[in-house]
Amino acid sequence: MLCYLSAPLLSASESLNRLQKTELFPNHTESAYFCTMKERVLSGVRSTGNLHLGNYFGALKNFIQMQDQYECYFFIANLHALTTHPEPEMLKRSVKAVLTEYIACGLDPEKSAIYVQSDVPEISELYTLLNMVAYKGELEKCTSFKEKIKKHAENINAGLLTYPVLMAADILIHRAHKVPVGKDQEQHLEMARNFAVRFNHKYGVDFFPEPFAFDMSGQLIKVPGLDGSGKMGKSESEGNAIFLREDADAIRKKVMRAKTDSGPTQPNQEKPVEISNLFTLMQLVSAPETIAFFDDAYNNCSIRYGDLKKQLAEDIIAFTTPLKEKILELENNPKQLQEIAEYGAEKARKSARQTLGAVHDIMGLTSIWK
Ligand code: TRP
Repeated sequence: MLCYLSAPLLSASESLNRLQKTELFPNHTESAYFCTMKERVLSGVRSTGNLHLGNYFGALKNFIQMQDQYECYFFIANLHALTTHPEPEMLKRSVKAVLTEYIACGLDPEKSAIYVQSDVPEISELYTLLNMVAYKGELEKCTSFKEKIKKHAENINAGLLTYPVLMAADILIHRAHKVPVGKDQEQHLEMARNFAVRFNHKYGVDFFPEPFAFDMSGQLIKVPGLDGSGKMGKSESEGNAIFLREDADAIRKKVMRAKTDSGPTQPNQEKPVEISNLFTLMQLVSAPETIAFFDDAYNNCSIRYGDLKKQLAEDIIAFTTPLKEKILELENNPKQLQEIAEYGAEKARKSARQTLGAVHDIMGLTSIWK
């Protein structure tokens, strides 16, 4: 069995580059990042629309915490987005919006590699190579593919079929161990494990680690929406989600319009879903005394929902305002955003090149004429 360890290989030009970049990001030391024996965490986000509180508390907050403990790779999956043929200008805009919002919320370009998928062409090459160990039959059986062909019967392209292969390439290019994703991505992750194991087996190597879902249970918070229906999501009804970049008045309006009932009639009554949703939102943004105050008011039937909503709206605003300010600051400074993306791509490419180089060796693509 061949065993590969990822050692940092730097060419002269890369070292020079590194020096230049050190000026831009003075706290970054290459060795601290690339020589670590830390486990690698990787996650991709689709570039769809703007982030809301549900995304923040449901995923992003965990990513931010992981940055100190793991070697992290976070990227925007704009190649995956192509499967549904977005209009090019729209695609560019949404990539920028997601990157801006992730950075504004606290993903740190110095701690993690934060990049745009298409800026790392090594991913596409690994995708080509992994396509050779992915079988048509297993791809056709994938639930997300079956759903997509139902939904987009007019556009069943090969990119949709091989979506899990591209996702596996995203993960395996950094030989990541842990992938924080929602339940809906479990099957894709299982396929990535199958490709990794099949590759190792086929070539008699122990090269790709098996990537597993990052178990976020315990930290996972389901953020309710404002329409009483459950989850906060942008595809739910209008007014259900509160976006991080929303202005104060819009937030007030949405919260004031949230569904309530006619109020408790008996002391200590159980809260109906829409009321308990408002309390759950309070747990995320309000002070414990505030929550206790309204909880008591509910339990002794003196609660006035208008007051609760006003308070909740102000607490949400206090929480989102600094994030919104950072978003606007970055938006007004596109050069800075570009530098962050280039820096992230460079970090990611260094790791990607190491993997791809080894894969070339393993598969017999190097030194053909020697
Ligand atoms: N398919 C994921 C989603 O729809 C996005 C994604 C692409 C991803 N590549 C990934 C997630 C790699 C984790 C790891 O949400």
